Amino acid sequence: MIVKPEIMRGGLVKNPHPIGCKAVVEKQINYMKSLPKFSNKKRALIIGGSSGYGLASRIALAYGADADTISVSFEPGVNDKRLGSAGWWNNIWFKEQAEKDGLIAKNIIGDAFSDEVRQQTIDMIKKEFDGKIDILIYSLASPRRTDPKTGITHSSVLKSTVGEIAAPTLDLNKQIIVDGKMMAATKHDIDETIKVMGGEDWQLWIESLKEAGVLADGFKTTAYSYDGADGTDAIYKKGTIGAAKRHLEKTALTLNNELHDLQGEAFVTVAKALVTKASAFIPLFPLYGCALFKVMKELGTHENTIEQIDRFMRDMLYGNKRITDEVGRVRPDNLEMDDNTQILTNAIMSKMTSENFKEISDFAGFYQDFLELNGFNVAGVNYDASIDIDTLKSKQP
Ligand code: NAI
Ligand code: NA
Repeated sequence: MIVKPEIMRGGLVKNPHPIGCKAVVEKQINYMKSLPKFSNKKRALIIGGSSGYGLASRIALAYGADADTISVSFEPGVNDKRLGSAGWWNNIWFKEQAEKDGLIAKNIIGDAFSDEVRQQTIDMIKKEFDGKIDILIYSLASPRRTDPKTGITHSSVLKSTVGEIAAPTLDLNKQIIVDGKMMAATKHDIDETIKVMGGEDWQLWIESLKEAGVLADGFKTTAYSYDGADGTDAIYKKGTIGAAKRHLEKTALTLNNELHDLQGEAFVTVAKALVTKASAFIPLFPLYGCALFKVMKELGTHENTIEQIDRFMRDMLYGNKRITDEVGRVRPDNLEMDDNTQILTNAIMSKMTSENFKEISDFAGFYQDFLELNGFNVAGVNYDASIDIDTLKSKQP
C-alpha cells in the first residue's frame, strides 16, 4: 500500500504515514542525543505522551534525563478503514528506539480520565519503576471527558466569553482564508469546557498517585497551557478554553501545596504556539501561527516542539533559569511574547489576505509542520515505496 496525505473534511488527514511518523520521532530523538544531559536519571509519567508537547516531553526526558517513561494516551490502532493514528505509531516507534537505548518505555492505551486507567498506571509504576515516579507531565488535549465520579460525559467548546466575535481562519485544505466567528458562550458552555480542559482531572491524578504512595521525594508535576497575546486573545484569553486554563492555574496552586511534604512542586507551564493535532483547527490560530513563525524565524528565535520543551526542561524545570510570572506560571513562551515579536506578528496578521498570505507569512513552514504531524513530507522518507501493512500490523505499542 502506498500512503498519500488524504485530507478529509474538517482538515483531518485520513491515514498517517507510519514510516514518516518513525522519521519524525527519530528526528526528535536525534536532536536530544546531540545535546548534553540536563538531569540525572528520572522516572516519568506522561499523560498525553503520544503526540505534540507530550511526546516531545517524553523524548526530552528519556534522552535528557535517561528517563524511564510510562505514557498514557488514547490512540486507535490499525483497522479495516484506517492505518491507526499518528500517535499510535509514535508510541510504537518511541518505545522501539528507547528500548534499544536501554530505557524502560511503557505505553498505556486508554482513557486517561477513567479510574481504571489511573489504577492500571499505579500498578505499572509499582511493578516497573520500583514504586515511584519523579515527574508527571500533564499534556492532554481532548474534546470530551467522562467524569469518573458521575459517569457524565462533558464536551468542551470553542466559544467566546465576551459575546460573538469575528474569528477568521486558514482553511488548510483549500489553502484560503475563511471568515468565521466565535459564538458567544453560555455559562453551561464555560462550565463544560472547564470540566474537560480545566484542572480537575490533573488533580485526580496527583491525589490518587500520592495516596498510592508512588510519588518520590522532590516529585514535580506540570500541565501545559497557552496564554497568547493580541493575535489570539479572541479565542484564548477571552474564550472558553482560556476559562479552562484559568481553572488549571488555580489547580496548580492547590497541588503545589499538597506536594509540600514531599518537597515537591506543581506548576503550569505556558508553552509556545505550535502546530499540533489539537491546535491546527482552532479558529484564528493558523493565521497567527503563520505570522508568528515568519517573525520568529527572521529574528532567529523560532523553536520547534522538541527545541521548546528541551529549553523548558533544561533551563526551567531542572535548571536555574526559570522564568515565572506573577501568578506562578513558568514561561518558556517568553520568546513568543517578546514585545517586538508581537508587534511584528500583529503587523503581518493585519495585512494577511487569501491572495497574499503565502508570501507575507510563513505558511510554508506552518503547512510543513502540519504535514509532519502525520508523517508526511519528511526528508529521507520514500513516499513512493509501498508499506508492508501486515508487518506493521504485528507491532504493538
Ligand atoms: P496533541 O493533540 O498533540 O496531544 C494530545 C494528547 O492527549 C495525545 O497524546 C492524545 O492521545 C491524548 N489524549 C487525548 N484524549 C485522551 C484521553 N481521553 N485519554 C488519554 N489520552 C488522551 O495536543 P498538544 O497540542 O500537544 O496539547 C497538549 C497540551 O499542550 C494542551 O493542554 C494544550 O493546551 C497545550 N499547549 C498547546 C500549544 C500548541 O500550540 N499546540 C501551546 C501551548 C500549550
Ligand atoms: Na501532547
